[in-house]
This record gives sequence, structure tokens and C-alpha cells, in this order.
Amino acid sequence: MKTKYIAAAIGAAFALCAQAQDAQIDRKVADLMKQMTVAEKVGQLHQLSGRQFTGPTSSAYADKLADIRAGKVGSMLNVTGVADTREIQALALQSRLKIPLLFSLDVIHGYKTVFPVPLGEAASWDMEAIELSAHIAAREAAAAGIHWTFAPMVDVARDPRWGRVMEGAGEDTYLGSQIAVARVHGFQGRKLGATDSVMATAKHFAAYGAAIAGRDYNAVDMSEQQLHEVYLPPFKAAADAGAATFMNSFNTLNGIPATGSAVLQRDILKGAWKYKGFVVSDWGSVREMVPHGYAADLSDAAVKAINAGSDMDMEGYAYTQHLEAAVKAGKVKMATLDDAVRRILTKKFELGLFDDPYRYSDAAREKAVLGDQSHRAAALDVAQKSIVLLKNENKLLPLSRDSKRIAVIGPLADSQRDLEGGWVVQGDRARVVSIVEGIRSHAGKAEISYAQACAPGCASSAGFAEAVATASRADVIVLAVGETWDMSGEAKSRTDITLPGQQEALFDALKATGKPVVVVMLAGRPLVFNTVADKADAIVYAWFPGSEGGNAVANVLFGDYNPSGKLPITFPRGVGQIPLSYAQYNTGRPVTDEKNVVYKSAYIDSVNTPRYAFGHGLSYTDFKYAGLTLSSPTMAQGQKVTLSFDLANSGKVAGTEIVQMYLRDMVSSVVRPVKELKGFQKVHLKPGETRRVSFTIDRDTLSFFNSQLKWGAEAGDFKLMIGSASDDIRLETTLKLTQ
Ligand code: NOJ
Repeated sequence: MKTKYIAAAIGAAFALCAQAQDAQIDRKVADLMKQMTVAEKVGQLHQLSGRQFTGPTSSAYADKLADIRAGKVGSMLNVTGVADTREIQALALQSRLKIPLLFSLDVIHGYKTVFPVPLGEAASWDMEAIELSAHIAAREAAAAGIHWTFAPMVDVARDPRWGRVMEGAGEDTYLGSQIAVARVHGFQGRKLGATDSVMATAKHFAAYGAAIAGRDYNAVDMSEQQLHEVYLPPFKAAADAGAATFMNSFNTLNGIPATGSAVLQRDILKGAWKYKGFVVSDWGSVREMVPHGYAADLSDAAVKAINAGSDMDMEGYAYTQHLEAAVKAGKVKMATLDDAVRRILTKKFELGLFDDPYRYSDAAREKAVLGDQSHRAAALDVAQKSIVLLKNENKLLPLSRDSKRIAVIGPLADSQRDLEGGWVVQGDRARVVSIVEGIRSHAGKAEISYAQACAPGCASSAGFAEAVATASRADVIVLAVGETWDMSGEAKSRTDITLPGQQEALFDALKATGKPVVVVMLAGRPLVFNTVADKADAIVYAWFPGSEGGNAVANVLFGDYNPSGKLPITFPRGVGQIPLSYAQYNTGRPVTDEKNVVYKSAYIDSVNTPRYAFGHGLSYTDFKYAGLTLSSPTMAQGQKVTLSFDLANSGKVAGTEIVQMYLRDMVSSVVRPVKELKGFQKVHLKPGETRRVSFTIDRDTLSFFNSQLKWGAEAGDFKLMIGSASDDIRLETTLKLTQ
């Protein structure tokens, strides 16, 4: 009891101290703003890319330097490293008011140490590992002069044609919100200003992940319910977790460009959510309101964007060229400009840049931190946790090391670049562990042979015969196929997401040897691979697993790590099923029997279930679910109930199960999805061990965004489901919510 009081007292003291610091910063910002001209204020809202600083000298380069010296630039992106950031910061300090620059960068899944792509990490469902990954990325970036990362991307994405599914946490709002919080905490730590943390950015606000037909930058058209219930919650979670900045998005939302949307930025973010950070545009998205047909010209775009709440203009040149005149003409109020400037300067003070503009640019720290080998261990840990075992016929995996001959084949088997994935900044490519290298170093007595068969992309089958010959001499084949690193990411939408090139033919040729085939697949999105799914003996989905990818894959193949990853996104059978989510609506004509789809809500030329469902992922052990209890079958508004069951490891090896809790509101004023994830836990059990697992359900768990556009829970029956995957429900019961 006493310790509780002491903890509360310490907490209160910290809160008071933080308030005092905030007030002090507010005063400093106000004092500084009193000295600023309108041009200098506009300068704080202008963000330039520094790519050219590392390229050949040009007149544009000289102009940028002059603008920085003149105090016309508030932030730079794409300048990296202590030497460069020091040099550029020194120019800013020659300006009249010596306001330091903010250096920002897309540190998406690591800086030097490359972690799995974010979608891969999401498959770990492991908040500690994800937070640590973001923390290490921040630690490395902050040691190299960076103050601010453009991550996490918290866009819910349900269309794997969209190449940017790779950058987010997948299709689910609940899982995505948890991951958003873990990433914000990982990047920022608990408070801005430590030199092992950077400012986070929740992006892309909002609904960018719902681009029509998965075509990048395309329009978005959606109901208020979808927006508030599915797409906004991860942003709200990031804001509540303290994300220092938000980035708006390229897309229109119901006809209004997000960058020019006062509803999103002023009413929701800065209004209802009381957000205190600042909003940066996406690259040129202010300018792009002209081709969208929303702004007449660049000047109009500047006026519309800032009035809508877009504080900083990334490489758009709209603010720098037109805001001063717009303020003079009364099209933008001084108070609006001041609000944007205040938000940005506040962050510069919070980071401590006015005390020491070079505090993130310390050459000794850069050397030490970027050479820190402990970061590799964390990369290995999360890469292993990210791997999803999709299929394992006759328990082919794990492979035995005893006197086996293993043929490692495939275009991606010895690739280092492809293991890293997209958005790699300073990755130590030479030290990326390829799949064949990982297998060789973990193989023990097993004999390893290798044939590439075809280059990444697999355009030619010329090497297939040699690969088949190599495979024929082995006992088991490990085939590494998938997308190359540059096939997913920004502007990488694809209409065909089957295995690129001739990789399926390669699989067929190897399968024809009669040897068991383990397929290791690399990708930044769900691919469609029906033949492989039908015929492979085992499938290991490794995403783009990062610097330690080969070791992670090898540990899984040999059973040194028992896989536990679960899919954070649905894998369709064909592009025609997209968008496809487990959280679909029942319709009035649901398919209840695949053999009878006549006049049902179905496709007549495909099995209607997904290839692999959201939440699917196998283990080398088996888990049994039993003994479901609900603390009360009814729940009054304001009460809570507890749902519990026994999880047992009934297999022979230790393993981790990610148990998932779903619910369905059976009858409501707005129809509800057939399943919604509302909780999950990662449970590690030794063989033979049983543990009681519990979930608490309260009113929030049962709430949805109703027809009055308000959150609320309605009285009635709720089906509660516990499962190992969204299509593998093991236990269920009903809860009645009373008035
Ligand atoms: C455009 C992308 O949409 C965004 O995510 C990224 O942060 C910026 N470019 C800056 O590179």
C-alpha cells in the first residue's frame, strides 16, 4: 500500500515537472516568435530534400544552401550522417535568428541494422520485439544526426495489390493500433529529447491504405463508419501514445484531398483529439492539390492546405512561394500561420536543439552506436518471430541435421539485397546473411549444395536443368522464391501478385524430382501461389526479414526456433477476391456450404475462402484449447466480464501460441462484421504445460461507430470466439449485454 502511495506521489511530481517544462517551452516559443518576420515564420514551414547535397553540385544545390542561410527553411529530409548534418546545421545557424533545422528521414525498419519490413514484424504480434526494433532504429538514426523519422505507417491495408501494405501492420484495426503504440514508444522513448530517440510520424492521415483498386495515390471513397471504425483508430492510438508528428496523405477522401481536409486535420486531429504535435504534408502533396482539381494554382493550394491544418510543406514550394503574400492578402490569418510555427518550434525546443543544435550529431557516438553488435541479436529475434509457417505436411519440418543432403535452390537463396526489402537507408549490405549462408552455418553434419536456377525475377529457365540435377542428388530441397525487394513499397502496385517470372515452373520442375520441397518465400505483401500451396511439402513465409534473415530462416528450418508468427493480413486465392478481409459482412446470402453457391454471395469460379486466413500460422507443436468460462453470461452497461480458457501444449517441443479473441455483435442498428479481433495474447508453453488464459471484456470492447456517428455498445447478444486463427475458432460462447 505504502509503495503504491509513493509511486503515485512520484508520478504526480513527474507530471508537475513536465507541466512546468511545457510552460517554460511555451514561453520560449512565444518570445522567439515575437522576433520573427512573416518570411521567417513561413521558413519554418518549408521542408526541403537534401538528396542533392550528396550528389553533384548544381545551381539548385547552391540555392538551397542560400535559403537555409537566409532562415527560409525549417527542416531537411534525406540528409544523413553526422558530417553532413553538422555541415548543413551550421548554415542554419548563420541565419538571423539561428533557428536550428530538423533533420528527418524515412527510417522505416532500421537504419544500419535492417529489421524485417513492418508487415513482417506485424506477423510477430509481439509488442516488445516491435518496440525494441523501433528503438534500435531510432538509436542508430539519432546517432547519425537524425531527429525525426517518417514512421510508423499506421494505414490499415486490405488490398495486397497496393505495394505499401509492406510498410504497415496489415489489415486489422485492433492489431494495427497496438503496433502503432509500440512503434511510437520505440522510436520516441517516453519523452522527446533523449539522444537515443527520434520523433515519430503517424502516417498517412488518412485512409491512404484504401486507395481504389490498390493503385497507389488513387482516390479513396468510404463511409463514415469505415473511416472512424477501421481506418482512424490506429492514428488515434498513435496520437494518444504521443506521436510528435502526423503526415497527411496523397489521396482524396470522399472528394477532398487529405492535405486540404479541415475535417481530418482541424476537426478530428487537432479538435476532437486535441493533438498538440504538427502535421507535415506528404512529398509535394500540397502542390498535388492542383492536378487533383481542388486548387486552382500553387498559391490557392498553399492557402487551402494551411487553412485545413497542414503545418509543414514537404518539397511542395507552395508555402515558401505564396504564404507571405496570402497572409498579406488576408487569405490566411496570422493566427493560423502562428499556430503552425508554434507547433514546429515547440518540437525543436523539446528535442533540445536550441540548447545544442548538434546534440544528435556526435561523431564518436555515431561510430560506437552504428557498430553496436547487440543490435544484430535483436534483428535476429524479431526476424524469427516474424516468420510464418504456412504449411507443414507430414511434419517435414524441422529438418534433421543428421547426415542429410539438403539442396538449396532458387533466385533468392543467395541474395543479400532482397532480404533487406525496400526503404533501406544505410543498411550494411555486405553483412546481410543470405538464406544459403544461414543454412550452411547451421547445418551441422548435413551436406549443403546450392544452385541459383535463375536470377532474381526469374526471367530465364536456362539454369533449371542444373538446379534439378543438384536437387536430384539431395534428400530434401529448400527452394527460396518470391518477390524481389523492389516489387513492393511506394508506387509498386501490381495487378498480378503471383510468383514473378518463371518461379512456379521452377517449383514444378523441382517437385517432379519426387523429393520433398520446402518453399521459403520472401515478399512484402501476400502473394498468390496456389500451385505451391497445393503441392509444396512445407511453406515458410519469411517476408523481407532484414540483416539477419538467413540465420532466422535457418533457425526455423532446423527447429532451433519454433515458429510462432501469424498472418496480419489475409492471403487470397486470386486477385479477383481482393479486397478480402476476415472482418467481412455476412450479407443476406452467405455461403454456408462451398458446394452450393447458387445465388449466394460468392464467386462461381473460385473457392470462396481465403488461401490463408488472417491469424493463420503453424507451430512444430500442437495446442489444445479447452474449458471456456465466462464470469457472467450477462453484462450490464458499465460492467466487465472475464472470458477464460485452458491452453495446453500437447506436443513434444516448447512453443508459443498467439491466441486470438474475436467477437460478433449478432443484431445491431448497423450490421457488424462476422468477426472482429478484440484481443490476443502470446503464450509460451513447455511440452505438457497448461495455462489458464483470460480476456477482460468491457463496454469499449463491444462498441462500434453507430448510425448517429457515435461510439456506443448496443444491448443484445455477442458471440465470443477464441481461436488459433480467424478461420480456426476453437471455443465459443454468448454474452448478453443488458441495458
Ligand atoms: C512519400 C511517401 O509517401 C512518404 O511515406 C515518405 O515519408 C515521403 N515520401 C518522404 O520520403
